[in-house]
Amino acid sequence: MLYITILELLLLYRSRLGTDLSEITLEYVSSISDDSDIALYDILGSEAHVLMLYEGDILTRNEAKKILIALESLKGEKFDSSSGAEDIHELVESIVIKKAGIASGGKMHTARSRNDQVSLDMRMKIRDDICVLCNYLLDMIEVMLSLAQNHKKTIMPLYTHLQQAQAGLFSHYMLAHADVFLRDLERLHSVFGRVNQSPLGAGPVGGTSIPINRHTTASLLGFDGLVENSIDATSTRDFVAEYVSILAILMTNLSKISEDFVIWSTSEFSFIELADEFTSPSSVMPQKKNPDILELTRGKTAEIIGNLVAILSTVKGLASGYGRDLQQIKSAVWSSSKTSISAILVLKSILLTMRVNEKQMKKATESGYLVALDVAETLVQKGVPFRTAHKIAGGLVKLAHDGKKRLNKLSKSEISKIVKGTGADADFVLQVVEKTSISSSLKARKSLGSSGYGEQERMIKDRIKKINSYRTITTKIENDISKSLDEMALRVQKLTG
Ligand code: ARG
Repeated sequence: MLYITILELLLLYRSRLGTDLSEITLEYVSSISDDSDIALYDILGSEAHVLMLYEGDILTRNEAKKILIALESLKGEKFDSSSGAEDIHELVESIVIKKAGIASGGKMHTARSRNDQVSLDMRMKIRDDICVLCNYLLDMIEVMLSLAQNHKKTIMPLYTHLQQAQAGLFSHYMLAHADVFLRDLERLHSVFGRVNQSPLGAGPVGGTSIPINRHTTASLLGFDGLVENSIDATSTRDFVAEYVSILAILMTNLSKISEDFVIWSTSEFSFIELADEFTSPSSVMPQKKNPDILELTRGKTAEIIGNLVAILSTVKGLASGYGRDLQQIKSAVWSSSKTSISAILVLKSILLTMRVNEKQMKKATESGYLVALDVAETLVQKGVPFRTAHKIAGGLVKLAHDGKKRLNKLSKSEISKIVKGTGADADFVLQVVEKTSISSSLKARKSLGSSGYGEQERMIKDRIKKINSYRTITTKIENDISKSLDEMALRVQKLTG
């Protein structure tokens, strides 16, 4: 570990100020402990900057070489948070000056500022996190699709108000969540384009008189373009708020499916059984198998929503131009990424290992009157107005419920009582009631996107196609970034080797 003590650290920034910061103030001001997440990006950004300065004859070959050798030696280094530096930018520059000497190292910060630097580092970190998230999301959605594939015939109740509503299929339920997470993926892909713009070279706020080439650094670092306006580039954090709001939405989606599984894993429901490794025991009740992991996803979702609120509250009152308040939002971003990534991985493993209790799902479906709407719709198909059919089906359910029997066990005289005066034919209603089962209902359900048997295979196939095309796009994004960084590494090597 590199250890630079407070005394050894070159006091880079305090030229105008007479005194040094006290230890307590320094600790208060310093972001060094949040900066380990961007240390590598800071080094890469500096390398691109130095290469550009060299190409523009602002640095000599020898100066660039010395700085790059120093920067290369810092890669993979763990930075000590007690170094006395205000942040990673000061620490890296200070070490470079120590290693390369002030005559060369002192030129590294020509034509840039910590303000464009920190925005650059954040953009590089977030774009990498987006790629990780997209890949893991794709893996998780793939597991959902394979569960859907295996459960195209698994009947379950669908709920509204947590009351049984219609008969459905477990594949349909899984496909619903696959679609939700595909939208999260789409949002991440779309924000990527706005994140992957280089702010480097914007300087503190108004640019520089040194003849830099901002396009060069942007392309060396694999950016799609520039955040052109230097005020915008240094002071805007809308890309951060947008990214974290996408994560907050993603987490609420993970939280919702977690809540379903918490309910379904109770002994009262028993629709699923979670694998032992995804449950927790009680310290006192030996029989317990608690769904703590899923509960934690619910809890951590609140945390990410809190992070979003913290970020928005920070930026809403800031005047244009960099303000140090912006330093505070970094940890909220890092922890939002980390938590979301883990939550996806954990849910994927839960999906892979849980047991789906098909019998119990079917039993629950059959115990209610879930075919009521299907009975009404069959009458509608024979010309009965829907409102009348609704009334008849409702009356039949009430009668069956009072008599503690199933709909198809109602007698002709019971049915006649309900049908009387509606204009419908009692014999026909009896026939419909006798013939309508959960399975016949699911066969008859043909509307696009419904629980009908026929819709499942079509939707699964379509979503598999979607996943494949998103995989291709994600891989291309990743390859483009690594290609640029690899090319830059070669140029660094050429100069330093
Ligand atoms: N540590 C700061 C941050 O994380 C870097 C920028 C500081 N700029 C300044 N002008 N004080 O935001």
